[in-house]
Amino acid sequence: VQSPALGVGPSYRPAEEKPTATVSREVPFDNVHVLSQTPQLIALLTMIRDKNTERGDFIFYSNRIIRLLVEEGLNHLPVVAHNVTSPVGKDYVGVRFEGKICGVSIMRAGESMEEGLRECCRSVRIGKILIQRNEETSKPKLFYEKLPADVANRWVLLLDPMLATGGSAIMAVEVLKSHGVPEDRILFVNLIASPEGIENFAKHVPKVRVITAFIDQGLNEANYIVPGLGDFGDRYYTM
Ligand code: PRP
Ligand code: URA
Repeated sequence: VQSPALGVGPSYRPAEEKPTATVSREVPFDNVHVLSQTPQLIALLTMIRDKNTERGDFIFYSNRIIRLLVEEGLNHLPVVAHNVTSPVGKDYVGVRFEGKICGVSIMRAGESMEEGLRECCRSVRIGKILIQRNEETSKPKLFYEKLPADVANRWVLLLDPMLATGGSAIMAVEVLKSHGVPEDRILFVNLIASPEGIENFAKHVPKVRVITAFIDQGLNEANYIVPGLGDFGDRYYTM
C-alpha cells in the first residue's frame, strides 16, 4: 500500500499551488507518534532520501530531522507545575521536567542521534548497545552493551534511525528490560520505519512509545526499507 500523496506547502497558499508529495501514513497503535508532515520535514526527508545527496549534506539534513525528533520525544516526558517570577515582577505559571533521563544508542547508526540529544539535554548520560543485523538473514545479533548504572531509575530515549524488520529495536528493548527499565519508560526515537517493523515492534513491546518522522511503504527482498534512504550508517559514517 502506498502512503498518501498530498499537497504540501504553507497554509496561505491555495491547494492548486501546493506540490504533491508523499507523506507518512498513520498507524493504529496508540504509542506510535509520527511527526507532523510539515513542508519543512518533507523537504528535509527529500534531501536525505536522494541517492545523489553527498555525505556532508546527508549528515547536515539528517541532523536537522534528528533534532526535531528529540524535541518531540521530550514532549512525552512528565512535567510538574513550576511557577516563576519574571524580571518585570510578574508571575508566570509554568512547568518543568520531572525525572531523570538518559540516551541509549543502538550502534552504529544510532550513535548519529547522540549529538542531537546532547544539544537538547546538556551532559545527558548515554549508554550503548551494539546490535548488528546479519546481512544474509536480517536477524539481529547482540555484541556489546554498556548502560548507566542507574538506568532502571531513568527515562530512556532509545536511538536508532532505521526500523526495518524491527528485530534490532526489539532486541535493544529486551536488553533495557533485563536491566530493570520498564517498557513504559522507554521512548524509541526513530527517523524512518517500515509498516512491518512498526507492527512487529508494537506487538512485541506495546508500552514503548515510538517517535518517528515517517512510516514508509514497506521492505524489499533484502529487508531494506522502501523507498527508504539506503544504508543509514554507511551514508552517515563512511560513504
Ligand atoms: C541497521 C539500523 C538498525 C537495523 C534495522 O543497523 O541502524 O539498527 O539495521 O533493521 P531491523 O529493524 O531489520 O533490525 P545495521 O545492523 O545495519 O548496523 P549499522 O548501524 O552498523 O549500519
Ligand atoms: N538499515 C538501514 O540502514 N537501512 C534500511 O533500509 C534497513 C536497515
